[in-house]
Amino acid sequence: MKQKEGREVYEQGLWQIYNRPETPEPWSNRGNLPWDDPDFSRRMLREHLDESHGAASRVTRERLMQIDRLWSWLDLGKGSRLLDVTCGPGLYAVEFARRGCHVTGIDFGPAAIAYGRDLAKEMRVENSCHFIEQDVRTMRLKDASFDAATFIYGQLAVFPREDVKSLLSQIARALRPCGRLCIELLDQDKVNKKNSTWWFTDDTGLWGERPFLHLGERFWLDEIQMSIERFQILNLENGEFTNITLCDQTYSVDSMVEMMKGAGFVDVEVYPAWDGTPLYDAGEWIVYIGRTLDES
Ligand SMILES: C[S@@+](CC[C@H](N)C(=O)[O-])C[C@H]1O[C@@H](n2cnc3c(N)ncnc32)[C@H](O)[C@@H]1O
Repeated sequence: MKQKEGREVYEQGLWQIYNRPETPEPWSNRGNLPWDDPDFSRRMLREHLDESHGAASRVTRERLMQIDRLWSWLDLGKGSRLLDVTCGPGLYAVEFARRGCHVTGIDFGPAAIAYGRDLAKEMRVENSCHFIEQDVRTMRLKDASFDAATFIYGQLAVFPREDVKSLLSQIARALRPCGRLCIELLDQDKVNKKNSTWWFTDDTGLWGERPFLHLGERFWLDEIQMSIERFQILNLENGEFTNITLCDQTYSVDSMVEMMKGAGFVDVEVYPAWDGTPLYDAGEWIVYIGRTLDES
């Protein structure tokens, strides 16, 4: 074990842990994982590609079943223009392009986007699968430029309501008349509503390539139906302290349907548990398919 340098650095981290607010403020400290941090993004990419679990991206077998399902839900065909919002490493985007769609994927994870671009080249779809490295809250899309859009794996929940409203309105405008959007969100009734704490140590993982101590806390804020996770990580080699707050806003089915209608979607179909698609965690999710107004 390496000699610890700068005892005060460790002490500072420990005092920050000791002095933490009892419950984190919703949306404090960004309220999201540091996906756009280059080192974190590189480490997270390993998790996206790890076929032993589906925590960051679903495993290939499940992804292909989802893509089959999305193909019909979104009424896709060869030449359909598809927008993949928070596309991660492009595992869906590239497969949709391979099946004949023109896909634009947007995500702010640098390693994820770089991987998606390489994968598109490897699969020879680089001319029909484009990736944009950007925070989706700053994306500016041309009106009526897509036939369909996906916003999957619960990512809408990591944004405050006001951001959700403006993201949905922008996506609705970017879709042609009768265009379709798929949103996948955690089922509010199935979300774990218990507070908990846990800890572990490791030598390498999502939180770094050096020995670290991870202290986790989970809070359920019943009044606003939100879960907050706080991760406090102490790098044991240099004492560096990292504090991450991850907020997940849950929505009742009625309130999400209302929000989609408020943003310009007319028919909203609701599919609990992926409508029977056999994903290992399907029961935890609800899929919403919204359609924009027919102009004729
Ligand atoms: C759980 S991953 C899912 C990725 C992809 N949809 C999939 O299932 O493979 C969530 C993704 O959302 C992206 N993300 C989160 N917040 C974002 C933001 N504000 N702007 C752009 N991308 C964001 C992350 O970088 C990450 O790639």
